[in-house]
Amino acid sequence: MERRSVLITGGAGFIGTNIARRYLAEDQPVHILDNLSRAGVEQNVAELRQCYPGRVEFTRADVRDRNAVEKAVRGSRFVYHLAAQVAVTTSLEDPVHDLGTNLVGTLHVLEAIRNSPEPPGLLFTSTNKVYGRLGAITLREKSTRHEPADSALARRGADERQPLEFLSPYGCSKGSADQYVLEYARSYGLQAVVFRMSCIYGPYQLGSEDQGWVAHFLRQGLKGEPITIYGDGKQVRDLLFVEDLVDVMRLVQKNISLVCGEAFNVGGGPENSSSLVELINRIRLLTGNPIEVQRGPERLADQRWFVADTAKIRNRVSWSPKTNISEGLRRLQSWYAERPSLYEQPAVQVA
Ligand SMILES: NC(=O)c1ccc[n+]([C@@H]2O[C@H](COP(=O)([O-])OP(=O)(O)OC[C@H]3O[C@@H](n4cnc5c(N)ncnc54)[C@H](O)[C@@H]3O)[C@@H](O)[C@H]2O)c1
Repeated sequence: MERRSVLITGGAGFIGTNIARRYLAEDQPVHILDNLSRAGVEQNVAELRQCYPGRVEFTRADVRDRNAVEKAVRGSRFVYHLAAQVAVTTSLEDPVHDLGTNLVGTLHVLEAIRNSPEPPGLLFTSTNKVYGRLGAITLREKSTRHEPADSALARRGADERQPLEFLSPYGCSKGSADQYVLEYARSYGLQAVVFRMSCIYGPYQLGSEDQGWVAHFLRQGLKGEPITIYGDGKQVRDLLFVEDLVDVMRLVQKNISLVCGEAFNVGGGPENSSSLVELINRIRLLTGNPIEVQRGPERLADQRWFVADTAKIRNRVSWSPKTNISEGLRRLQSWYAERPSLYEQPAVQVA
């Protein structure tokens, strides 16, 4: 059995913890590198170490620290690079910090892999924000959602041929990192793959108003507190339950030589799409709480519609999401129900 660790940068966070749990459950060692800058994530590391004693190596370090990254990458058999400044709002407040973590940090990971005697494979978590406003798509407004006037596109979702448009410092830093990963695959032969992810939700998500809106909405619903919607609330996203994401990540890791050098849209697809107001209605039904909605101005760089066409990844690794929104929300609700202190405390800050 392979004894070298899987390295997860940002592994203390929501998605990283779910990836770690999967490998640990298969008795495969995991190394987490995280600076614990996201409030509350230290609890995830503590829980992992308690459940899997001796199997979790943890390095508290910043991806901006090149030496720390190099040391962690050496000896790892695969790298999930997740560590990031994750919120558009925070990137607008401090673009220099955003760039340092998201772009320079990614270059450190790429250089460490390039210089490694046994270069591990890499999966980089990019975002659908690299497609910007999708200005070429004409939308029509329906009673609870925006959707493309082209009904075939509405049925399929947007694929990887959409033009790139980097909006907001977050869009620029993640988008540049996305392009660097593909470039290192081209020029230096790295076995690297890019996931342009839609909205991911599920257990271990400490959602806030700035990032992780599904968990944030559900938490507000469980507390019976108001939700603030920025814009008309008809913005549409496709939602992917985190365990389905980890399934496709594992498939890609196992088949990296077949998919490296490419970017894939990864999300729940049209059948798992929801607008903000539609999701609030679901949460009202699920929690039995009425949930007051407050209104704020539309946010800069907010997409009115993004739904991933996941045909490319589905065809390449034979994957499709198994968990629909109702089931996913129920499972997130149960996870919160086991940890009442988490949803009772004030929303965490992302940076
Ligand atoms: N959750 C989503 O819906 C979503 C969608 C698209 C893309 N992504 C991407 O997926 C990745 C993981 O997202 P998440 O939702 O798990 O976020 P998260 O905030 O829960 O996890 C990110 C982790 O990175 C750590 N971190 C931040 N800056 C760091 C630094 N400079 N050095 C080391 N560690 C640092 C944080 O402490 C945190 O534990 C991110 O790259 C994010 O951009 C997430």
